[in-house]
Amino acid sequence: MSGAINDDSYEIEVLVEKAREAQKLAYAPYSNFKVGASLLTVDGNVFTGSNVENTTYGLSICAERVVAAKAVSEGYRDFKVLVVVGDSDEPITPCGACRQFLLEFDPKMTVVMVGKEKRKEMTVAELLPHYFLRKEKNNE
Ligand code: THU
Repeated sequence: MSGAINDDSYEIEVLVEKAREAQKLAYAPYSNFKVGASLLTVDGNVFTGSNVENTTYGLSICAERVVAAKAVSEGYRDFKVLVVVGDSDEPITPCGACRQFLLEFDPKMTVVMVGKEKRKEMTVAELLPHYFLRKEKNNE
């Protein structure tokens, strides 16, 4: 590992570390399943997020949507990589709602899915085949 910031493997390791930090901040008293996410924008900014649950279970928000909303609401919409970490045996994979939510910003974005030991990497488009996307350009 060279340690250069543009070295892809180094970049991913830093993002995994940041997602693990965010995972500790998850609010998950109902499922007890803490999830962390980190998001690298094309211009090198990193955002983090975690799942936030609610006593009305359906209002709970996944870490992926939290981190994407944080970035978009700060003015960043061009995403490069999203890392999601959980303590599952298999790599944690975004739910259907999160796949559609992330697709909005870039179907080609890489999603690195991390479990206790294993990892998997796919684009959003690969995670959501035959997707629906109607992106208006007048607000960009
Ligand atoms: N969860 C995430 O935050 N991301 C995923 O990719 C899968 C599931 C959350 C939702 C809920 O708070 C908890 O994990 C258990 O499903």
